[in-house]
Amino acid sequence: MERLVIVSNRVPTLRSQDPAGGLSVALKSALEESGGLWFGWSGKVTEAPGSDWRVNQHDGFSLATLDLCRAELRGYYEEFSNRTLWPVFHGRLDICRPERKAFDTYRSVNRRFAEVLTPLLKDDDTIWVQDYHLIPLGKHLRHRGVEGPLGFFLHIPFPPPQTFAALPCYRELLADLCFYDLVGFQTEACAENFRHAVAEFLDAEPGADGSLRMGDHVTQVDAFPVSLDTAAFAEMAQSEEVEETADQLRDFMGDRQWICGVERLDYTKGLAERLRAFATALDRTPALRGHISLIQVAAPSRESVPEYREMRSQLEGLSGSINGRFGSFDWTPIHYLNRTFSQKQLAALYRVSRVGLVTPLRDGMNLVAKEYIAAQDPEDPGVLILSRFAGSAQELTEALLVNPFDISSTAEAIQDALEMPLAERRRRWRQMKLHLDTHDVHAWRNAFLDALAEASADSSAVGETRAA
Ligand code: F6P
Repeated sequence: MERLVIVSNRVPTLRSQDPAGGLSVALKSALEESGGLWFGWSGKVTEAPGSDWRVNQHDGFSLATLDLCRAELRGYYEEFSNRTLWPVFHGRLDICRPERKAFDTYRSVNRRFAEVLTPLLKDDDTIWVQDYHLIPLGKHLRHRGVEGPLGFFLHIPFPPPQTFAALPCYRELLADLCFYDLVGFQTEACAENFRHAVAEFLDAEPGADGSLRMGDHVTQVDAFPVSLDTAAFAEMAQSEEVEETADQLRDFMGDRQWICGVERLDYTKGLAERLRAFATALDRTPALRGHISLIQVAAPSRESVPEYREMRSQLEGLSGSINGRFGSFDWTPIHYLNRTFSQKQLAALYRVSRVGLVTPLRDGMNLVAKEYIAAQDPEDPGVLILSRFAGSAQELTEALLVNPFDISSTAEAIQDALEMPLAERRRRWRQMKLHLDTHDVHAWRNAFLDALAEASADSSAVGETRAA
């Protein structure tokens, strides 16, 4: 394979104690296997604008990072990526803040990424751009003469055309996506939304194979559901270190059952609805009181963005009021933990929890659902309750699928999960685990890169035919 270049807003942390997180967990193993170059924001914020960047060598690959100044971070990351694109792509038009100035900064940071990256590239590099922060990057690379295979993968949902059109610059962003040889989405429904948006708002020709032709260039469009390194995660969950932590948790739990929820503290994750569903279950079934607890990890995220700070106060108030109402001297209904944990600590939590509660209001994929399955003890697996609005619900069909907006049915699902007989738990878990064994992050990476090689060859052939 030619050298692989991955570009993303954040580069992965190279420590083993990684916090929970979608993109870095999914791509780190791809990076370790494929070598090459990873390029992205250093995480450093400078006062004055400038192009400070550096390259470090790690085991078999290079890590090139770029600093951003405060104004760039505000416009590109906080305002446009996280207060405009993020809410619109998750269907939250009510809190989207479309601002022209922030869009300009988003564009100029993407241009600067291309300026710094281009001289680091070799002619035959395969370039794979990740996520919504970097939609225009492909266009800027092409304008600088980069000719190799160029792919883009969107980790978050792509909304229906009319929702997408709430963005002030929606036509430009769609056209930017059409500069890539391959655009990948988490689900076929997201890929369809994109095709429909392009058909409606741009002058593009749809191909019978789902591709889109703009002038001389063909963009392939497909679904590639992201996954985890299932075997490595399952092995880690059975390791001695994790088992020790799990034993400590079991001692602390006594004969109570645990329900766990693990996410970044984000308004798309349905955390308030989840706490209410748990309270509804306690309210309806007094026998559950004293016998189950919800351990909710809500890792701090994007705290410079006001909507995230508001969400945090809301959750603190809600968990406090539910504990105040139902708790007793020797029982806390909700353990609400607003901090990050290592993958090993989380694996131990998944392993001892009878129920994994994963109920986002909208989610591109949700790897926590997959991690919960991978971590289970085959002899005594827990039950996954999963939102129908997470991309992973397309694959993990043996989970108890719920509508997270429907608090009452989520409460019922909690009860059903707690009462589920061992034979049914095993049957459901086995099917999901079998699926994840073959549909892991390696299969995801290979499927995307194979499709990208093909798309780029087809695209060059079209260009040559037209030129001839
Ligand atoms: O899943 C989307 C995503 O933006 C990932 O790219 C990222 O790892 C995660 O959410 C955390 O977000 P942030 O990089 O804004 O902290």
